[in-house]
Amino acid sequence: MDIISLTGFMGSGKTSVGKELAILLDRDFFDLDDMIAEREGRTVSRIFAEDGEKGFRDSELAALKHFLKPRRGTSGHSAKGRVLALGGGTILRPEALELIRKYSTCIYLQASPDTLFGNLSGDCGSRPLLGGAKDLRKRIEELLSAREEAYLAAADACVITDGLSPAQVAGKIKALLQGKNLQVT
Ligand code: S3P
Repeated sequence: MDIISLTGFMGSGKTSVGKELAILLDRDFFDLDDMIAEREGRTVSRIFAEDGEKGFRDSELAALKHFLKPRRGTSGHSAKGRVLALGGGTILRPEALELIRKYSTCIYLQASPDTLFGNLSGDCGSRPLLGGAKDLRKRIEELLSAREEAYLAAADACVITDGLSPAQVAGKIKALLQGKNLQVT
């Protein structure tokens, strides 16, 4: 498959693992949140503040569809395979979930609430769904349990990331993809 997508909760390391994985597999790396912000000319936080979560999900789906559009020729375009870090909630829209399943090999970066709490403490400023939480740990647990099923539904394979560095997780994904014959670069 041309695209390897990474799903998982906020703070699970989709972007940092995605960058490592792209290097390891000689692919190009893309981050869906960055693409949304670029297309909209606004930060994710601003889109949430101005358009609400529903508006953000609309922009997210539009950016995903744009990314998945068939690529023309090679001139000016990389012919390399791609690694895409999804947003933590991209899989919540059924249409997005369907597109991810259809057009990518999707890996779920599964992290425990402890790991997520550790990664997210002090780093919620750019994450509107967590910024206002009085009890961050509880908020993570609630959102994660509401989403777990969707992450698993999206994923072709799952990697437990607790205690691992992004490079180690990327190595595990590479081995998994080869072992399962899910995708060969
Ligand atoms: C979201 C996750 C964020 C971003 C937005 C919503 C979510 O991406 O898309 O704040 O609903 O989980 P990261 O998972 O990259 O933080």
